[in-house]
Order: sequence, then structure tokens, then C-alpha cells
Amino acid sequence: MTTTTSRAAEVLSRPTTINGLTVPNRIVMAPMTRMFSPGGVPGEDVRSYYARRAAAGVGLIVTEGTYVGHESAGNSDRVPRFHGEEQLAGWAKVAEDVHAAGGTIVPQLWHIGMVREQGQAPYADAPAVGPSGLVTAGAEPTGKAMTQKDVDDVIGAFAEAAAAAERIGFDGVELHGAHGYLLDQFLWAGTNRRTDAYGGDAVARATFAAEIVAAVREAVSAEFPIIFRYSQWKQQDYGARLAETPEELEAILTPLAAAGVDAFHASTRRYWLPEFDGSDLNLAGWTKKLMGKPVITVGSVGLDGDFLKGFQGEGAPVKGIDNLLDRLEAEEFDMVAVGRALLQDPEWAAKVLAGRVDELAPYDAGSLRSLS
Ligand SMILES: Cc1cc2nc3c(=O)[nH]c(=O)nc-3n(C[C@H](O)[C@H](O)[C@H](O)COP(=O)(O)O)c2cc1C
Repeated sequence: MTTTTSRAAEVLSRPTTINGLTVPNRIVMAPMTRMFSPGGVPGEDVRSYYARRAAAGVGLIVTEGTYVGHESAGNSDRVPRFHGEEQLAGWAKVAEDVHAAGGTIVPQLWHIGMVREQGQAPYADAPAVGPSGLVTAGAEPTGKAMTQKDVDDVIGAFAEAAAAAERIGFDGVELHGAHGYLLDQFLWAGTNRRTDAYGGDAVARATFAAEIVAAVREAVSAEFPIIFRYSQWKQQDYGARLAETPEELEAILTPLAAAGVDAFHASTRRYWLPEFDGSDLNLAGWTKKLMGKPVITVGSVGLDGDFLKGFQGEGAPVKGIDNLLDRLEAEEFDMVAVGRALLQDPEWAAKVLAGRVDELAPYDAGSLRSLS
């Protein structure tokens, strides 16, 4: 136990860098939508929610998804927005408090695309938009296929939000290209049926996201980090895949890296699963191998009661902390994002680093009800 504990402290405590940013350790808070920001304004409770986790050892916080300033970006008035005076003033205080607690923080910039339905707040009159008006593969169109003007407006909204992030004191931005939301709707052939420059093969389907990255790069300083989150799975279809082979993955990620992505955040539901046949590398591992950029892994870290005992019993999936540390040490990936375990316990990082593992409680979905 002592060995595992001191090794966890040693491996996870090493600082790392993303472009111009030094992240004090390898523990990242995964972005999690909480809907505690009425009117899209993050308030005092949101500030202390993030600052508490920074004070307790999280090296980099990726905020919950926050809507860019486009009329069709979201579907809830309780999700924070990254545009508007009051909303940005609220966010500036979040960044200030996290910095005062010793952490670093990036907002996750978000447009949900076809996951919204027309009539939903906060932009009730706006249509649902996406590459082809489809919410999932095989669906009938229920929204508007984006025109070139829509494309340009959304690109502009991401660039403006990124510029605002730098202006109000954030350490970088994460672009939400995962889970079947707008950027992923373009990346995924299931929802992208376009025949113009934004549709077709994997490279063409990455054009929209790459243009967003390029516009963001242009809007911020050269050393301001841009993280791109992506996933194979979609909230519309857990079994969906963007890439069946490493070559396909490379085709999708290369234009994004060329446009200015500094780090990738490869979202999987279980970090220990190999992504492609013939290798133990997970999606983050493949991303690092193919792109050579810093990569964050994620997916069920610390959710299992045996995680911290390094349990690898017969027939059990390998998911103990030793496995995670081995992979970090082998530089399969650089950082580890933790979602639900950090909701359950704001002190999760501090306890893991200090070996106070007996104090960790198993995850209970009841922790979603409040913002503690
Ligand atoms: C309540 C909740 C809200 C989430 N919201 C977001 C989000 O806004 N953006 C995002 O990219 N992922 C979101 N996710 C996914 C998490 O970032 C993370 O990838 C996932 O929970 C797996 O990590 P975990 O097993 O450590 O929880 C959310 C997950 C949860 C549980």
C-alpha cells in the first residue's frame, strides 16, 4: 500500500506543460455539465465548487461545457454561457478563485448542434442546426442543414469565446469536439451527409473543426493553449466510432493538429480498453503516438472500490491505480481526467496523492443533486 501510495504521489505530482502553460500535476478535472448557472451566469456556488477542487490538488480544471455566442448553441438556461457581460464577469471570478487556490483552468467551449430542439431555452426561436439536420445516424432530418453563413457564424462565435477566455484570465480553452455534439456531428459520417467541402471523407469531415481551431488560434496569442476533446462514442450511440483503424484516426486528427491544437483530450468511457486490435494502447495512447502532442486520458478512473488497492484479481479487468501509473510512466498519455469520482469527493486528488485512500467513498449518483 505504502509503495503504491508513494508511487502515486511521485508519478501524479510531476508538473507538465501544454504549449505555454505549466500544469502543476497530472490530475485533470473532466468537464461536467451541472446546470447550476441560472441565466447562464456562473455564480458564487460555481466559483467555490471549482476553487475547492483546485485547492485540493487538481492540476487542471476543464469547466463544464459552456455555450459559445451563437443563437442555436444550447438547450438550457441553467448551463453557463461564455458570452454576455454578466456571464463573462461570473467566469472571470471563477478563474480568479481557481488561480488563488493554486490551480489552472480552461473553459470547455460548446455548441450542441442537433442535440437541441427548436423552442428550447435560452434561444427558443432559433432552429436546431447541424451539418445535415440529423440528430443521429439513420434519422430523418429534424433541423436545419447549416448554410455557409451558419458555418461562418459558429466559427466566429468560437473565436470570440476563446479571445474572451484569454482576456478574462483563463489559462487556455478546450473545444468540445466529442460525444455527438456539433463538431462531432461534422466529424461523424453518420450525421454528416454533406457534399460540399465540409463533407465526404474523414479529412473533409474534419474541415469544420479545423477551421474553428484555426480561427481560435488566430484570435488568441501563440502561447495560449488549445485543447481539443473528441471521442469515438456519441451520446446518441455509445457504439459509434469515428475511426475503425489508426490510419483513419490519423486522417481526422492531422488537420486539427495542423490548425493549431496543442493537446488532445481523448474521451473514452473506460480508459483501460485497447482501442484497436493488435495493441494495448487506449485511444489517448494512439492519439499521442500518432500526433506527438500532450494527451489527456479519461474514463472510469477511480470509480471502482478496488482502484486504489491496485486490485487485479483473476478474471477482473485491469484497472488498479498501478496500471494507470504504469501507463503514465510509459508516456502512453500525459494527464488523467477524473469526472464522477471528483464529483463524489472534492478532495479526491488530495487523498490519492497523500495516500488517504481509506477516506474515499464509492461513487453515488446522488452527488449530482447538489453543487458541493
Ligand atoms: C454529470 C456529467 C456531466 C458531463 N458533462 C460533460 C460536458 O459538459 N462535456 C464533456 O465533454 N463531457 C461531459 N461529461 C463526460 C465527462 O467529462 C467524462 O468524460 C465522463 O464522465 C467519464 O469520466 P468518469 O468516468 O471519470 O466520470 C459529463 C459526465 C457527467 C457524469
